[in-house]
Amino acid sequence: MTFVIPAAAQRIPADQLPQLLRTMPKAELHMHIEGSLEPELIFALAQRNGVALPYASVEDLRSAYAFTDLQSFLDIYYAGASVLLKEQDFYDMAMAYLERAAADHVVRAEIFFDPQTHTERGVPMETVILGLSRACQAAQAQWGISAVLILSFLRHLSEEAAVATLQAALPYREHFIGIGLDSAELGNPPEKFARVFAQCKTLGFHLVAHAGEEGPPAYVWGALDVLKVERIDHGVQSEKDQALMQRLAQTRMPLTVCPLSNQKLCVFPDLRDHNLPRLLEAGLNVTVNSDDPAYFGGYVNENYLQVFAATGMGAAQAYQLARNSLEATFANAAQQAAWVQQLDACFERMAA
Ligand code: ADE
Ligand code: ZN
Repeated sequence: MTFVIPAAAQRIPADQLPQLLRTMPKAELHMHIEGSLEPELIFALAQRNGVALPYASVEDLRSAYAFTDLQSFLDIYYAGASVLLKEQDFYDMAMAYLERAAADHVVRAEIFFDPQTHTERGVPMETVILGLSRACQAAQAQWGISAVLILSFLRHLSEEAAVATLQAALPYREHFIGIGLDSAELGNPPEKFARVFAQCKTLGFHLVAHAGEEGPPAYVWGALDVLKVERIDHGVQSEKDQALMQRLAQTRMPLTVCPLSNQKLCVFPDLRDHNLPRLLEAGLNVTVNSDDPAYFGGYVNENYLQVFAATGMGAAQAYQLARNSLEATFANAAQQAAWVQQLDACFERMAA
């Protein structure tokens, strides 16, 4: 750790922990905007756009949310995204998420979007990016939340498709700050995207990738050494490789961990067994995030509340996780320092 946990953390009564988790300023660095589509909004957009859904009702759709692994989730997630057609749809979806995030005291959201999920259905790139970007600007004006976009390539598709997606998005490059890699991990190692990530690095984008969610530690090594990422999304499988754990700890590589996602996709079927406390204890730069909040049973605060309740972590870990999140953002150092001041002030208030 490169910072000292404030003494105030020790003075916060245990029964105040949920309130602390809810109100402390935090950053959310791993969420897919398409994963914030609540069943009610899916049905409303389906009706607005005349899209037929293979589910009879909101309840019917929700009852399909019983996942056994990543792929079983992705099938339903891509089906849900099929209702998004117009710029206003992307705007409405992002505004709904950002309102929830601001209520959770998220001061900064770095949001993934999957353009290929939409362009493959004939939705123009411009529609996707301008709708989401307009929401980021409106949310900053309305709720004071800082929000930026990260374009993610679908790794079950080819590297050529990723290159074409990048080309189609470059006319809108001022609207996104980074590049990510998501979708089905097993069988789609980071090396498959070596050339397109090198190109994105040359273009000056921030780089992140999902690695070690279901995939082996070798995929985390590949994301670090071949893709040259600045954060690892998930990374929980790193625990199986002690040399990798040392590398991650020594470089303070941020890991964007998503406890409820891991539980719902059966990576850690019981949240009490989640390795987040062990990763923190081993000195890793861990953060807490919601991944796909509409599908996994909660937004970011619910992830904090449930993983703390299940594993018995306390105020000191709350400080570490919130501070890690703020300092792992791609915001500049002055902005990060201002958020850390807000975090320290929150801990002082809660200890008083
Ligand atoms: N796309 C949306 N959520 C994802 C996850 N948890 N892993 C990989 N791809 C995703
Ligand atoms: Zn994810």
